[in-house]
This record gives sequence, C-alpha cells and structure tokens, in this order.
Amino acid sequence: MPVDSDTPRASDWVVTVSVVFPHHANHVGTMFGGHVLQLMDVNASIACNRFCRRISVTASTEPVDFRSAVQVGDILEVRSRVVWAGTTSMIVRSEVVAENPTTGERRLTTFGHLNFVALDDAGSPTRVPPLELRSDEERQHHALGQQVREAMLARRASASALPTP
Ligand SMILES: CC(C)(COP(=O)(O)OP(=O)(O)OC[C@H]1O[C@@H](n2cnc3c(N)ncnc32)[C@H](O)[C@@H]1OP(=O)(O)O)[C@@H](O)C(=O)NCCC(=O)NCCS
Repeated sequence: MPVDSDTPRASDWVVTVSVVFPHHANHVGTMFGGHVLQLMDVNASIACNRFCRRISVTASTEPVDFRSAVQVGDILEVRSRVVWAGTTSMIVRSEVVAENPTTGERRLTTFGHLNFVALDDAGSPTRVPPLELRSDEERQHHALGQQVREAMLARRASASALPTP
C-alpha cells in the first residue's frame, strides 16, 4: 500500500533471530564482523521499507561498534528501527544481541547506525514521510540520529575537499 509522504509515520522494530553457524566464523573462531554488518544491513533495509514502502539503498554506514565477540552457537537477534527521517534519507538504529543458548545470558554485542535513501520507480531519491515519535525512548534515539546526520554531513563536506582518485 503506498505511503503518504506528508503524514507522519512511526517506525517499529524489525527483529531477525538466527543462530551462528561455524561457516559464519572468522579465522579466530568467533563470528566474522562482515557477516554481522550484512545482517544489520538487511534488517535495517526492511525497517526502511516498512517505514516508507519504497525500495531503499544503503547510502552509508555510520559508526558501528563491535563491543564483544559473538560465539559460534549463539542465538543472534538483530533489531533495527528508523530513528531519523530527512527529505529522502533515513537513519536507522541497529542493535545486535547475542544470547547464550544454554544459560540465556544476553549481551549487546554490536550497535550502530546506517543511512538509507528511498528511491522512486526511476531509481531517483524520493520523499519519505516525517517520523512520528511516540515515546521518550524514540525521542532519545531521534536526537542521537540527528547527531549522526550532522556528523555525516560534516564528514561529507570535508571529504569533498579531497582530490578524487
Ligand atoms: C545514495 C544515493 C541514492 C544518493 O543519490 P544522490 O543523487 O547523490 O542523492 P542526493 O544528493 O540527491 O541526496 C539525497 C539524500 O541522500 C543523502 N545522501 C546522499 N549521499 C549520501 C551518503 N553518501 N551518505 C549518507 N547520505 C547520503 C542526502 O543527504 C540526501 O538526504 P535528504 O534528502 O534526507 O536530505 C546514490 O549515491 C547511490 O545510489 N549510491 C549507491 C547506493 C548503493 O548501491 N548502495 C549499496 C547497495 S544497497
């Protein structure tokens, strides 16, 4: 169903749960960070898609912190939500929780933001709805998203001064 880009719209968490298999491991036997990023990217893109009902592409990955290693056999929960919406872009907060399958111990292993742009049928950036904020937590996450946006703009402004390859 098309989404009206003038009407504020909320964004709910998208949660993906999986198990870490041996082929997801790196050379030291813990989960490969590139695979964690892939899971975050896919999960976050679904959050954008549900928010604006447009195809959205990853424009940038903003700081992502890998706080602790994930073990093979852990249950992995990836959750993402749009926390800031611009004219055509969205900033998504993405969190990864690892759960020991036998003790039930859960820990936030990875946390960060990703930046997506919604595209129209011709592949050009297109408007997204304003983000509706429903709680103090959503307002806090939005404020952090605003900081991520400002840091991204500053980074791009200084990068544009560099010579292109
Ligand atoms: C992302 C992309 C669509 C932006 O296109 P563009 O014509 O440069 O876009 P514009 O300059 O008109 O900016 C559109 C929006 O994107 C944002 N944007 C553009 N480049 C960005 C970047 N590198 N990082 C973060 N945001 C970016 C702008 O801030 C703007 O946001 P706003 O409308 O909310 O203010 C284009 O660069 C692209 O297609 N990149 C490749 C995407 C891709 O293949 N991703 C990996 C596979 S999914």
